[in-house]
Amino acid sequence: MKVGIDKLHFASSHLYVDMADLALARNEAPDKYLIGIGQSKMAVIPPSQDAVTLAANAAAPMLTAADIEAIDLLIVATESGVDNSKAAAIYVAKLLGLQRRVRTIEMKEACYAATAGVKLAQDHVSGHPDKKALVIGTDIARYGLHTPGEPTQGGGAVAMLISAAPQVLALADDSVLLSQDVMDFWRPLYHTTALVDGKYSSNIYIDYFQDVFKTYLAEQQKTLADFKALTFHLPYTKMGLKALRSVLPLATEAQQRALLAHFEAARHLNREVGNLYTGSLYLSLLSLLLTDPTLAADDLIGLFSYGSGAEGEFYTGRLQENYQRGLDSALPQRLARRRRVSVSEYEALFNAQLALTASDQTIALGDDPHRFVLTGQQQEQRQYLDRQH
Ligand code: HMG
Repeated sequence: MKVGIDKLHFASSHLYVDMADLALARNEAPDKYLIGIGQSKMAVIPPSQDAVTLAANAAAPMLTAADIEAIDLLIVATESGVDNSKAAAIYVAKLLGLQRRVRTIEMKEACYAATAGVKLAQDHVSGHPDKKALVIGTDIARYGLHTPGEPTQGGGAVAMLISAAPQVLALADDSVLLSQDVMDFWRPLYHTTALVDGKYSSNIYIDYFQDVFKTYLAEQQKTLADFKALTFHLPYTKMGLKALRSVLPLATEAQQRALLAHFEAARHLNREVGNLYTGSLYLSLLSLLLTDPTLAADDLIGLFSYGSGAEGEFYTGRLQENYQRGLDSALPQRLARRRRVSVSEYEALFNAQLALTASDQTIALGDDPHRFVLTGQQQEQRQYLDRQH
């Protein structure tokens, strides 16, 4: 029996800041951000979107009535949670109109957690092939204005429907994991932005990739040439390129050229959005599948998931015959229609998030076109609106 990703959709903001504009405002050479970091645009998440609304906006367009009937597990992976007790998944289940007999949980391990969700969902559906699981990675990546991490912000959500008849990617049971206590990136409860040792975190990322990928090759008796493409968690797209380059000497020159070309497709959409934390690897998978015309059924795709703290996992999937049918095919056009904001508008939006106080608050929706929005807080409860009801 095949189990894997049946549908794969994405939601983010209708706003972005151009990385050349941001570089000039920060007295940096634009090429540092465009080439050195590898980002062209950065999603600017308005206060009317949070981890819950992004998740619901990602999942709603792909779900049919039959999907909703079959979903009995909803996992929302996030490090941008809106409550220390209540799972974001409960809010998302309500917004999506899921049935009541559904297990709803929120999972956290930095950018890695969505992968834990996919793997738990794979096991769940393997045991219950008549059921489906919905896994959503949703985050707003925030480091703070004028910090070295600033050009590696972004945000959005990737929703994945896991089923026993996967249209997109049949997942193997071949994971190699690594988990150790590392202080490379963390966010204490009293901070709204992440603390990070940037260079150290980038080195740990490479170390983890080398460890799990080479262990995978040895355990599965495979070589780099067995893969059509490798996809990576992309906190900034140069990071994935560095990881790929670290193993290219294992391949012939022709294979190296092919892997680098597939990587360009796999980072195409991430360059336009920035870091998504939990969803980043899966946006890269979506980017590869939407923009690489050379893929074919049964191609082996490698996935490297990394979450600071730190946890890494390498696993694989085989592309399915009609994979395009399960994808968010309108995504490139949606990204192209976003509105460019100035650096000062981005800074104002960055500082306009719902205040972490008990007071009642109302959020101006501005030109946010999304179906699900956060309208404010009343009596210490977040107020969500479904504009189609
Ligand atoms: P920085 O110190 O500002 O940048 O911080 P830099 O000086 O290292 O320059 C960056 C690159 O631009 C360098 O290339 C420069 O040479 C190049 P590299 O040596 O790395 O190949 N450069 C130029 N290139 C072309 N033209 C120019 C030019 N000038 C310089 N004119 C850093 C960069 C990434 C450290 C910072 O942005 C940061 O701290 N980001 C946040 C941390 C991060 O993303 N870490 C990644 C690994 S950890 C991870 O992936 C987990 C995470 O997603 C969180 C989670 O799990 O939840 C972050």
